[in-house]
Amino acid sequence: MATREDKQIKDKLLADLKERQEKIKAMGGRDGVAKQKKRGKLTARERIDRLLDKGTFCETGMFATNRGTALGMDKIQVPADGVVTGYGKIDGRKVYVYAQDFTTVGGSLSEIHAAKICHIMDSAAKVGCPIISINDSGGARIQDGVDALAGYGQIFYRNSIFSGVIPQICAILGPCAGGGVYSPALMDFIFMVKGISYAFITGPQVVKAVMGEEINPEELGGAITAQKKAGVACRSENSEAECLESIRELLGYLPSSNRERPKRVDLGDDPNRIDPTLFDIVPASPNKPYDIHKIIERVFDQEPNGKKNYFELFPIFATNIITCFARLNGWSVGIIAQQPMSKAGCLDIDACDKASRFIRFCDAFNIPIINLVDVPGYLPGTDQEWGGIIRHGAKMLYAYSEATVPKITLTIRKAYGGAYLGMCCKDLGADTVFCWPTTELAVMGPEGAAAVIFRKELEKAEDADALLQEKIQEYRSIFANPYRAAEHLHVDDVIDPAETRPRLIKALEMVIDKMEPRPKKKHGIIPT
Ligand code: HXC
Repeated sequence: MATREDKQIKDKLLADLKERQEKIKAMGGRDGVAKQKKRGKLTARERIDRLLDKGTFCETGMFATNRGTALGMDKIQVPADGVVTGYGKIDGRKVYVYAQDFTTVGGSLSEIHAAKICHIMDSAAKVGCPIISINDSGGARIQDGVDALAGYGQIFYRNSIFSGVIPQICAILGPCAGGGVYSPALMDFIFMVKGISYAFITGPQVVKAVMGEEINPEELGGAITAQKKAGVACRSENSEAECLESIRELLGYLPSSNRERPKRVDLGDDPNRIDPTLFDIVPASPNKPYDIHKIIERVFDQEPNGKKNYFELFPIFATNIITCFARLNGWSVGIIAQQPMSKAGCLDIDACDKASRFIRFCDAFNIPIINLVDVPGYLPGTDQEWGGIIRHGAKMLYAYSEATVPKITLTIRKAYGGAYLGMCCKDLGADTVFCWPTTELAVMGPEGAAAVIFRKELEKAEDADALLQEKIQEYRSIFANPYRAAEHLHVDDVIDPAETRPRLIKALEMVIDKMEPRPKKKHGIIPT
C-alpha cells in the first residue's frame, strides 16, 4: 500500500510527464501551428494520425531535442527535434513512420533529428516492414553545420542499403529543399500534393541569384512540375487526405518486405470470366489509337463496388507507357502497357526510365509482371539520340532480363523491332507469351520493310507506287500476323481476346512459384 507521501511524489512525476508531453505535442507553438494551417497544411502529428489505423501510433524519441548550440540554438529546445517518429499499422499491417514538423525550425534536419529517423529505418529493416516518411523540411539545419550534413549521409546510406529490402514511401508535403529531396529520391515512391508540395535542390531565390532566372516555386518544383516534367513524383494528389489515402491503397499491393510476397486479396471476380466485347476496344488498323486503360479495367480483377481496379504510377509522366498495380485472381501484379493514345505508344527515354524502375521494384518485392504490348518501335529523332535513348533503352532490356519474378507478355496489336525485345519477349525471360490475332510481329512495319528490301526493284520500276503496295502486301501477309512467330515458338499461343483473363490467370498461377537461379555476383552494372 503506497503511503500518502509516496503517492504525492508519483502524482508529481506523472504531472511533470504530462506537462512535458503536452509541450512537445504543441510543436512549434500556437503561432507556428497557425502559420502551418494558413498554408493549408496539416501538422506532422495530424498527418500521422490520418495515415495510420486509428489509435495505432506509438511514438518513439519524443523527448529528443537539439544538441547543436551554435547561432542561438542553445537558447531553445526544439520539440521532438522537429520530427515525429514511431510505428503503427495500416490496414492492420505494421509500418514505421516519420513526419517532419515544419512548425519547428522549418522541419530542418539536425544531428538528433537524423538519428531519430535512422533508428526507425533500422527498426523497419529488422522487423521487415515498410517505412513511410512525410517530408516537410527546409533541408539541413543551417545552425548544425556538418553534423546535419552527416545526418543526411546516414539517411541516404540507409535508403540505399534498405532499397529492395523494405518498401520506402515518401510524401513530400511542404517546401522540401537540398537533402530534403535527396532522401525521397532514394526511396521507391514520392507522393506530392498540388499547391503545398515543392521539391527542388535549390529554391527560386538561389536560382535567381546564380542563374539570373525568375521562376516561382510552383513552376520550379511544384507537384505537377515534379511529376510531369521531372518524373520525380509518382503522383500529384489534390489534397493531403487524398495523398495519405493513396499511400494506404498502394501499400495494399505490396508485401511488407522482400521476404514475402504481397497478400492475396480475393475481390470475388470470377477467374473464368470471359469478355466477348474486349476485342472491340482495339481498332483493326494498326495506326488507330485506343485507350489501354479500357483493357486493363476489363481484364484484371474488378472491385465489387465499381471502384477503379488499378493503381497507376506516374499517370502524367511518360504517358506513352503505363505502369500500374492491379490484381489477377487476387494476386498483386505490376502491369506495364503501351498507351497508343500517347506518341502511338513508342518507347522513348522517359518511358524506358519509368518502366525500368517499375520492373526493378516489382522484381525486388516478388510482384509478377504482366506486359501488355502494342509498340511501333523506339521514338526516332535527335532529341532521343542525343538524350541517350541507347542507354535508357538498354536499362529496360537489362531490367527485364534481370527480373526473376513471373513475367507474362501479351501482344495486343504490334511489336516491332527492338521494341519487341524491349517489352519482354521470350528471349528476355518471359515465362509465357500470348498474342491476339491482331498482332503484327516483325523487324519493322510493312511500309518501311518493303521500301528497304525492294529498293533496287522500286528504283527500276515503271510504276513504283504500285510495286511498293504489292510488296507491302506480300510482307504483310508473311510477317504482319502472329503466326510466323508462333510457328517458330517465339509465341506460346494466339488466343481469342475474349479469353484473355482466364488465360493470363492460368499462365500466372502456373509460374507463381518458379525459381530462376542467376550467376553469383556482387551486383550488375545497370546502364544509366
Ligand atoms: C534552419 C530553417 C531552415 C534550415 C527553414 N528554416 N529552413 N532553419 N535551417 N535549413 C526556418 C526559417 O528560418 C524559418 O524560421 C522557418 O524555418 C520557416 O521558414 P520560412 O523561410 O519562413 O518558410 P518559407 O517561406 O515557406 O520557405 C521555406 C523554404 C526556405 C523554401 C524551405 O525556408 C528555405 O529556402 N530554406 C533554406 C533551404 C535550404 O537551402 N536548405 C539547406 C539545403 S542544403 P523562423 O524562426 O523565421 O520561423 C542541404 C544539405 C544536404 O540540405 C545536401 C545533400 C545532397
